[in-house]
Amino acid sequence: MFKFLDRVIFLLWLCCVQAHAQTFPSIGRAATVAEIAAWDSDVRPDFRGLPVGSGSVSQGMKVWEKKCASCHGAFAESPAVFPPLIGGTTSADIERGRAAGLTAVTENSKTTIMKLATVSTLWDYIRRAMPFDAPKSLSVNEVYATTAYLLHLADILPADFTLTEKNIAQAQLKMPNRDGMSTAHGMLDVKGKGDVTSLACMNDCYVNEQSLVVLPPSVNGLNGNLAEQNRNYGLIRGVDTSTKR
Ligand code: HEC
Repeated sequence: MFKFLDRVIFLLWLCCVQAHAQTFPSIGRAATVAEIAAWDSDVRPDFRGLPVGSGSVSQGMKVWEKKCASCHGAFAESPAVFPPLIGGTTSADIERGRAAGLTAVTENSKTTIMKLATVSTLWDYIRRAMPFDAPKSLSVNEVYATTAYLLHLADILPADFTLTEKNIAQAQLKMPNRDGMSTAHGMLDVKGKGDVTSLACMNDCYVNEQSLVVLPPSVNGLNGNLAEQNRNYGLIRGVDTSTKR
């Protein structure tokens, strides 16, 4: 009896699925394996997804001069189109794994290599986004080469180095800000705590319409008084950031 019922239920289910599939026969199709592979190209911090390949510092210099230097400068130092990619790190940073210049209060801009914790991100970004005017046009080996050249400019790799999927982990060990990534903070530090608290609301939500965002007094007045710049709809109200507070 149960077997019979099971079969009926299964057949009904099958009919539903087929009817559903036929509702919009012209819309969509299953992605092919090749299409999924083309999108699934990210390289992770543990180097999962990194393709086999190699590129030397000197090959990288040639690619750089042809395809990158016009925007970023011969030594990746130019602030013309974007803050400099390389500069501002020291051998002490490489030793320590934290770029001291990040916390220094200076007029100088923070460079990419000062902020970057993972070398995989550099590789991945170059492959998917650069050169800006022809993204995805570099070969895998050219991506290795330009990455090697940038790492050489940052004193992470010697001039005769050839970067490959097998030795890229060595470069990671020398990234000047490799220990600089943290997720336990907000945008601004308020007495040792992040500035934003998020509460998961499960029921009776939004009874209290008070903003949960706290700003340190030092930013008051920087952009006027947020309380006077509210939209007149929605639940979030700007906090009083007048300097008189
Ligand atoms: C036509 C100008 C141009 C060229 C050529 C160019 N870039 Fe860029 N690059 C940019 C711009 C603009 C950005 C910032 C893009 C953004 O934030 O959306 C950028 C960003 C970058 C970044 C990320 C910096 C960061 O901190 O986020 C890297 C790394 C980089 N470029 C490497 C390269 C390499 C390697 C080449 C050569 C293969 C190259 N670029 C060629 C304009 C260029």
